Amino acid sequence: MAGGKIFIFDTTLRDGEQSPGASMNMQEKFRLAQQFVKLNIDIIEAGFPVASKGDFDCVKNIADHICDIQVAGLARCNEKDIDTAWQALKNGDNSRIHIFLATSDIHMKYKLKMDREQVLELAVASVRHAAKYTSNVEFSAEDASRSDLDFVCEVFEAVIRAGATTLNFPDTTGYAMPDEFGDSIAYLNRHIPSIDKAVLSVHCHNDLGLATANSLAAVKAGARQVECTVNGIGERAGNTAMEEVVMALRTRADLLKATTDVVTEHITATSRMVSTITGMLVQPNKAVVGANAFAHESGIHQDGVLKERTTYEIMNPCDVGLNQNSLVLGKHSGRHALYDKIAVMGYKLNADELERVFNRFKTVADVKKEMFDEDLEAILMDEVLRIPNIYELLSLGAMSGSKTLPTSSVRMRVNDKEMTGCAIGVGPIDATFRAIAKLTKTGSKLLYFAVSSITGGTDAQGEVMVRIEDNSVVVLGKGADPDIVTAAAKAYLNGLNRLEYLKKK
Ligand code: KIV
Ligand code: ZN
Repeated sequence: MAGGKIFIFDTTLRDGEQSPGASMNMQEKFRLAQQFVKLNIDIIEAGFPVASKGDFDCVKNIADHICDIQVAGLARCNEKDIDTAWQALKNGDNSRIHIFLATSDIHMKYKLKMDREQVLELAVASVRHAAKYTSNVEFSAEDASRSDLDFVCEVFEAVIRAGATTLNFPDTTGYAMPDEFGDSIAYLNRHIPSIDKAVLSVHCHNDLGLATANSLAAVKAGARQVECTVNGIGERAGNTAMEEVVMALRTRADLLKATTDVVTEHITATSRMVSTITGMLVQPNKAVVGANAFAHESGIHQDGVLKERTTYEIMNPCDVGLNQNSLVLGKHSGRHALYDKIAVMGYKLNADELERVFNRFKTVADVKKEMFDEDLEAILMDEVLRIPNIYELLSLGAMSGSKTLPTSSVRMRVNDKEMTGCAIGVGPIDATFRAIAKLTKTGSKLLYFAVSSITGGTDAQGEVMVRIEDNSVVVLGKGADPDIVTAAAKAYLNGLNRLEYLKKK
């Protein structure tokens, strides 16, 4: 039966983290997990515990401490993966073991080197093994959309009997077309005898830009769980964007007759948090969460919206928590006003974090007349989501001009040792990066550099994003500051700290 409540399974912390350069540390993942609780997501996939000790610790930390949400951990079809996943998940309220095995001929032949019978047997044995730990077992037929449907039906029926309670039909390669994908879901619903004992789920990739369309077609055809990520990040072209599916279901409830329990007012803040943490900027024209998603440029549209918002707006910006340029506070605001605002924005900080944010707020507010939500968010991310820093900027002075040789002098801490260095460059940012490179002795290569402003005006905070590479490891670094050279230095050091963090992982 199509429609009804749709379970939202968010895999930002697992598939989303598979976006090149988007790795997150334990603290960042934990912050996001807390945000997912606020959003009222049904299930979060916290990671792939067997993949590394870092992944294991992240999943365990979330399962141990985050309540009121199901926490899933991914595992391949072997006992070691499943046992390790359970070790990470076992303290959770209602943890889910998510196991996957490919069912397409192409994957079975070239990747698994197994025939159908062996795949069926392994899937059943693995689900049975996982079901000894919990009744909350999900089985994914990897590359399902390119698999023989009757074989998928056979595998799904067998794994339900073995104890699987969620069956996921992924479009792993983003190959499916919406009508075809919806038809497949309807086919599964008709041809799996025990389907009413399990939740049918979909997991779409966006290689042809159809992930959301395919997920919605599946919901129309009877899927009851959608797997997605915030901002659509993920492997290659990414996954179905959570915000798109949730807002489509809300906006077109008339047609889709399905609902989610997501508190949509937290969508914008979550999108910004994911962007800041991963360093993956959201394209301005991105549906629902892009900077232009509710901006009306043409005079005719502006006139229409002023007369009646619904002439050109199918969603109310307030419903996704878009608080357009809401003024936060000024430089005279005291601690209490700031702490209240931070609480309203949904952050729970400890005393030390509050103090750091307050000090930083005062410094920024001193040079910037007005502080908006976005400014405060940038400060919160910078101060609260720090990874353990080997490198820390203490101060910098840069000189530039049309007739001056650009020079930068940087004072920083390297492993608790204070150091100063200077360099010349093509411009002040180039000089600063050269000085930092000398002090840190980094062998990394800068692949990408972008500057944007967080809000409008020449007094806006500058936001810099860099992508750097060392020994084939690529990371993103982000920094914000009213001074653009300082923002660039912070971004570079953030990237270098991430590289060091990954080396230790
Ligand atoms: O894309 C995919 O098939 C996956 C599975 C592990 C669900 O990510
Ligand atoms: Zn995937």
